[in-house]
Amino acid sequence: MMNQMTKQPKTPTLPRGYRLIDLSRDRDIETFDITAWAFAFEAQEKFAECFLDMYPWERGRGIEIADPSRGKVGALVAAHSSHALHMKVPGGTSIPVSGLTWVGTHPGHRRRRLLTTMVADHFERSRARGEAISILYAAESAIYQRFGYGLAARERRVRIKRRVKLRPIPGSEALTVRLESADIDRHAPIVEAVQAARLRPGSLSEIPEGLFHEHFLDLEGERDGFERLRMLMIYDGETPKAYALFQRKDRREYGNPKGIVKVNLWGSVSAAATHRLWTVLSDLDLMDVTEAGKIALDDPLLHMIIDERSLTSTVRDNLWLRILDVKAALEARGYEADCDVTIELTDARLPDNAGVWRIRVDGGTAEVTRIGDVGDPADLGLSIQELGAAYLGGNALESLQNAALVDERTPGSLHALSLAMRSPVSPVSNISF
Ligand SMILES: CC(C)(COP(=O)(O)OP(=O)(O)OC[C@H]1O[C@@H](n2cnc3c(N)ncnc32)[C@H](O)[C@@H]1OP(=O)(O)O)[C@@H](O)C(=O)NCCC(=O)NCCS
Repeated sequence: MMNQMTKQPKTPTLPRGYRLIDLSRDRDIETFDITAWAFAFEAQEKFAECFLDMYPWERGRGIEIADPSRGKVGALVAAHSSHALHMKVPGGTSIPVSGLTWVGTHPGHRRRRLLTTMVADHFERSRARGEAISILYAAESAIYQRFGYGLAARERRVRIKRRVKLRPIPGSEALTVRLESADIDRHAPIVEAVQAARLRPGSLSEIPEGLFHEHFLDLEGERDGFERLRMLMIYDGETPKAYALFQRKDRREYGNPKGIVKVNLWGSVSAAATHRLWTVLSDLDLMDVTEAGKIALDDPLLHMIIDERSLTSTVRDNLWLRILDVKAALEARGYEADCDVTIELTDARLPDNAGVWRIRVDGGTAEVTRIGDVGDPADLGLSIQELGAAYLGGNALESLQNAALVDERTPGSLHALSLAMRSPVSPVSNISF
């Protein structure tokens, strides 16, 4: 539930000559066209058909031209939507969040604050639905901080050499391996079952149908030399414990096999299943390297590897998180330690978030109360972006203070809140949207 707002957010300031509209399936061709313009993808007919199944129409919003000085009245020039998602938060519960997606402005209408308007619209509508948090994957990572999104989770992208050597993990050998060509009807329930059992903060625990269509999309002619999509499943008896959607590509160097395995989507819920999953994926005949992303910074795989250098990796932004309702968001997650701390929070875009908040944690749950305005005394000072970055436990408040992004005014308060907000494991979202 949203808390009682004391100040209303600013209404989106729509630039002159444009109007905001609901997008429904009867604007599908235009929506696809704008999205293709924004993301520079080929608007081939086959993909357009699939896009219809992927796009969350019930939450689609657009901006169209309202004044002939801007172009043809009624023409769509920008669009966005959001998925109704459920995300695991520290403490193990799953909360409804709004997953901003398919955001695009036609190149001919860029830099006129259409994105700014759409984000404000997204905030307003998400809050009205009772979603206290917005999350996103950024196409370009420099865009979203200005809107108060904090980088809540980072991921590793790895290249694993053939036959990676892992420490023995009890139970791994006893698991059953199934390999099939990917089929959305047969395999979406497996993905769903594994996701529902994941505890890691940032994990999506329920997946909307459109997202399945996105991840099982496998158009002939779009494979870039890779085979059709395959599904690996690891079972303990009849219970799925891990899955991977992957594709192989045959390559030769001087006649020697140097194939690539590309893992598009994967998830696991036990150490034994993780062990078996990567053992199978890194030992497929004719393949030389396995590439994967969405690996948490402390994923069990990283602890199992015997030769650390058999894996090369880069770290990238994973999940950007924006707190839309401070009280609801902070009370929804669990805490690792008790504390009683006041924070002075700034939020330029949602003024009712700004002010002094008291966070009292007792036995793992928080009671959060607004007790003052910006400028009133508080133990700590920080912005909504930093609170978002710390929310899933992926960034300690102390590390943000080391970067001068959190201001400690009462000695000891930073450590107390930082300890309370930490997560025993690093957050990651393993399903992009
Ligand atoms: C990114 C995109 C949506 C921006 O749309 P827009 O209508 O031009 O954005 P706005 O005019 O509202 O710009 C808002 C601010 O973001 C900044 N910005 C926009 N795109 C940016 C980018 N790629 N990198 C860094 N900053 C960016 C603008 O400079 C502006 O800054 P300001 O508030 O300091 O003036 C548009 O360029 C686009 O469709 N890009 C391709 C698709 C894409 O990347 N979508 C985002 C998916 S997550």
